[in-house]
Amino acid sequence: MKVIEIKGLEKSFGNQKVIKGLNLSLEEGEIFGLIGPNGAGKSTLIKLILQLIKKDCGEITFFEGHSDTIEKEIGATIEEPCFYEYLTGEENLKLYKNILGLHTKDIHDAMEMTGIIFAKDKKVSQYSMGMKQRLAISRAILSNPKLLLLDEPTNGLDPKAIIDLRELIKQLNHMGTTIIFCSHHLSEVKNICSSFGFLYDGVITKRENMNDSDSQIAEMEELFL
Ligand SMILES: Nc1ncnc2c1ncn2[C@@H]1O[C@H](COP(=O)(O)OP(=O)(O)OP(=O)(O)O)[C@@H](O)[C@H]1O
Ligand SMILES: [Mg+2]
Repeated sequence: MKVIEIKGLEKSFGNQKVIKGLNLSLEEGEIFGLIGPNGAGKSTLIKLILQLIKKDCGEITFFEGHSDTIEKEIGATIEEPCFYEYLTGEENLKLYKNILGLHTKDIHDAMEMTGIIFAKDKKVSQYSMGMKQRLAISRAILSNPKLLLLDEPTNGLDPKAIIDLRELIKQLNHMGTTIIFCSHHLSEVKNICSSFGFLYDGVITKRENMNDSDSQIAEMEELFL
């Protein structure tokens, strides 16, 4: 099944055209690495998929049209995770769960999976960047989403947390979640993803499955040069 299909997507900010007729489709079970230079439009694409910003034209179809509750079926972390700073981590997730009317995953389970359970009673204002990132990922998986969008989720994470995140992504993927993983860490992308796409000049100029060859990282690097 196609989890997402994007056709002819376009988006401008003022007179700057950022997305220029982009096509992309992802099959269920993929872990797709979205790479590209700074300012290429990766975060813009994620926000367009989430309908946080409005597209100029083009089509985005989810689950081959068999879905009307996108917000429950798509989980996401965006670049700068936002929370109510004066509430605790757990309270933030409770609020989110109530807003979406979720009855699925337990908040503690989600916080356990991302290793932030120890700080559940701390106010978010006292969280470090990495702790916020972990909380953001907990929030993203709360609804057991079928599609998970992670925009630079390793930002602010220490090496142990990155390893944990890699395991978590693989675990979620085994349970059937399709993932878009946006990152500048090409070795991470190589390690985690089953395929990648290079976003350049408003379109995906290269799309390839991950292979066993170590030289693939060098090939990915070259795309940036
Ligand atoms: N709300 C906005 N208003 C105006 N311009 C914007 C807006 N959001 C993004 N842009 C512009 O769109 C372009 C793409 O930005 P975007 O954040 O999507 O890039 P990116 O690929 O995520 O980059 P990075 O690797 O640095 O995260 C940039 O030139 C940026 O300045
Ligand atoms: Mg970005």
